[in-house]
Amino acid sequence: MASLPDGYPTEAFAAFDFLKTRQRLSVEDLKVLAMIECYGEVFYEILAQGVEDEEAQALLKRNAAEERGHAHRCLKAISLLGGGAYELPSREENPFMAMAPAEIPMNAELIGLLEQGEVDGDLAYQHWADAEPLPEVAQLYRLNGREEIRHCERVGQVKARLQLSA
Ligand SMILES: [Fe+2]
Ligand SMILES: [Fe+2]
Repeated sequence: MASLPDGYPTEAFAAFDFLKTRQRLSVEDLKVLAMIECYGEVFYEILAQGVEDEEAQALLKRNAAEERGHAHRCLKAISLLGGGAYELPSREENPFMAMAPAEIPMNAELIGLLEQGEVDGDLAYQHWADAEPLPEVAQLYRLNGREEIRHCERVGQVKARLQLSA
């Protein structure tokens, strides 16, 4: 099992909130962020499995795949910041997966939280980009942030397809 540095919450969303309090991300922070993004991939996959509408499923799977892409950009940032080659832990080795639910029921409340979570994700990446002196690394954060907004839009499309409203 990959371990979390001292002080990090063991639940992925709580850990993300904790990371939001950081100004510039350290190599250590980026390893945690990469594991949170992998958790995001699994979270969207579980959600996709729970819906029958094929279009909604495809939208959720696209988000899942991009969350994994975000984890890879974190790895790139780690190496640009001199942290060497860090490998993503397998699903079993990811400490956040211990708290992953086996099923996630799709409902209006959850979809609202997801939309908000993606908007917050974009904001967090923008803040980290603003605080990052290395332009190549800042650019990676901005790319991730932009995609979080696209995730929010896709979640909105899923909401419309499934006729979920708060
Ligand atoms: Fe992400
Ligand atoms: Fe996202």
